[in-house]
Amino acid sequence: MKSPVAKSRFIDFKSLLRKGILETRPYTPGKPISEVERELGITDIVKLASNENPEGPMAAAVKAVQEAAVDLNRYPDAACHELTSALAAKLNISNDSLILGNGSNEIIDMLIRALISPGENVVFPYPSFIVYPLTTAVHFECGKKVQLDSEDRHDFEAMADAVDEKTKMVIVCNPNNPTGTYNTSFEFSKFMERIPDNVVVLVDEAYYEYVVADDYPDVASMLSQYPNIVIARTFSKIYSLAGLRVGYAFGHPNLIKELHKTREPFNVNSLAQVAAIACLKLDDEVKARADHNKTWMDELAKELTNLGLEVTPSQTNFLLVRCPCNATELQQKLLKLGVIVRPMNAFGLGDGAIRISVGLPEENRKCIEALKQIM
Ligand SMILES: Cc1ncc(COP(=O)(O)O)c(C=O)c1O
Repeated sequence: MKSPVAKSRFIDFKSLLRKGILETRPYTPGKPISEVERELGITDIVKLASNENPEGPMAAAVKAVQEAAVDLNRYPDAACHELTSALAAKLNISNDSLILGNGSNEIIDMLIRALISPGENVVFPYPSFIVYPLTTAVHFECGKKVQLDSEDRHDFEAMADAVDEKTKMVIVCNPNNPTGTYNTSFEFSKFMERIPDNVVVLVDEAYYEYVVADDYPDVASMLSQYPNIVIARTFSKIYSLAGLRVGYAFGHPNLIKELHKTREPFNVNSLAQVAAIACLKLDDEVKARADHNKTWMDELAKELTNLGLEVTPSQTNFLLVRCPCNATELQQKLLKLGVIVRPMNAFGLGDGAIRISVGLPEENRKCIEALKQIM
């Protein structure tokens, strides 16, 4: 029997909700493979839409998850003690400088909830990670967008100009999603000189392990000079644990201590904790994955450029591709050929751009062949 809920008396919930909620659309992820298969009645689909790691989870992580599964009746370790110690040792920081989250998404949320009161604001780059406008919108509409510059990079001068007496936090996404671009060490240092001490600077380094540029900022080494910096990273990308949801942030212990008050009691599940610990021991494997990514990103960029598409140089595991056509139509055509990519209109990049994540060799070849067929 269907639930009687829908038939019960009418309540105008919209009148109860905050403005920021009403005006925000929920986060729309890239379509899962199963959904596209069902919709189009085709199989053999490749998904290059969510910047995931195409290589499966590392064997040691799977083994750790299997072993931990027998204890699923127990709550996880709320303090993530073992993972915190292992990660802090790797980062060469004290345990109390580090906080784990249900993905680094939760860390962004924790900071906003901890810092922002009504009327205060968060400055962030745009177009950038789609969660920044969403999360700030639902939290007192506190977001203050600053357009990227003409090279699709952060406009640090404009971001510093946007900081006012009501600004509590600035978000830097480096490298930036969805453009793949980065800002240099020199630029970041200059930017920090302009940011007051009482403004927290969240540096989102979700793609940190993929970066190869020599002049990429070593923000971790600047934490003692700038105690207002917090760095967020994730196990979702290079470590192939997107499905388990585990990310982290590190910064000054006095701020990290306060963030613990904003998290859910058991925010990182027990399987995520053991899998992340297992991954931390696998430096060679991580390096191999980063190398594979670089090789195929270069190859993809070359092939797409040969097809007449404009590819933005990237320091991540995805490429922003501008097309001389409607991006949503291109995405639909690629879907019919079994390739899922992400059109960029929802990200604020207009209707002439798609984002393609680097896949396995055969997935990349399929994508290139499909684009050749369409173009
Ligand atoms: C820039 C950026 N930050 C944060 C995240 C969130 O990662 P997580 O899976 O750790 O929540 C992503 C995910 O795509 C991202 O692109």
